[in-house]
Amino acid sequence: MISVAIDGPAGAGKSTIAKAAASELGYIYIDTGALYRAVALACIRCEVSTGDEKAVEEMLPKTEIRLVFFNGVQHILLNDDDVSEQIRSEEVSMAASAVSAIPVVRAYLLELQRSFAQNADVIMDGRDIGTVILPNAQVKIFLTASPEKRARRRVKQLEEQGMEADFDKVLYDIVQRDYNDSHRKTAPLKAAEGAVTIDTSELTLEEAIDKVIETIKEKTV
Ligand code: DC
Repeated sequence: MISVAIDGPAGAGKSTIAKAAASELGYIYIDTGALYRAVALACIRCEVSTGDEKAVEEMLPKTEIRLVFFNGVQHILLNDDDVSEQIRSEEVSMAASAVSAIPVVRAYLLELQRSFAQNADVIMDGRDIGTVILPNAQVKIFLTASPEKRARRRVKQLEEQGMEADFDKVLYDIVQRDYNDSHRKTAPLKAAEGAVTIDTSELTLEEAIDKVIETIKEKTV
């Protein structure tokens, strides 16, 4: 089995790029951020504060999260409810960043993530895939871009979805999430040892996808 770990900050293009590379190379793409987002949505639905670790811990046994694939597309089920769309809001993004800093949440999702790589060739994206989840991955990539570029892309994406977006607010949220993700005690965001760093700031989407595919091919021959 081949495992490709793609880590990096929010908005570097990980999911779009990983999805395209997986489809080109015939791998299964796993978006691990969706798991943290589902836990965050569970907190919102149960009115559990993401700052209250004890309450979040108590909620976890009642929180069943499953990843399923319909026609090759990943869907996320929270207690059998398909929440693939609902987990994409800004409110859930911020809450996901908060719950992802809680060690019991990370422990709860660890085996689930590892199990995906046991029976299939996978490209898994997240923050700690190369460092913690799949330390033996054959390919490790750290995908990054400047905060301003990432904010521009996010604003464009929101506008395309018909939503209003304020650049300064989006940039502020990105910087805030970067700080949270890279300063937490458990599994902080950082490049794994041996990871190939790809900065997509000055690359088009196609160039970034090509570079990732090229890197995977080079490492798996
Ligand atoms: O990639 P994303 O924006 O969907 O991730 C949502 C949050 O989950 C983000 O703040 C970081 C966290 N996360 C994590 O800590 N570890 C992962 N493997 C994936 C995401």
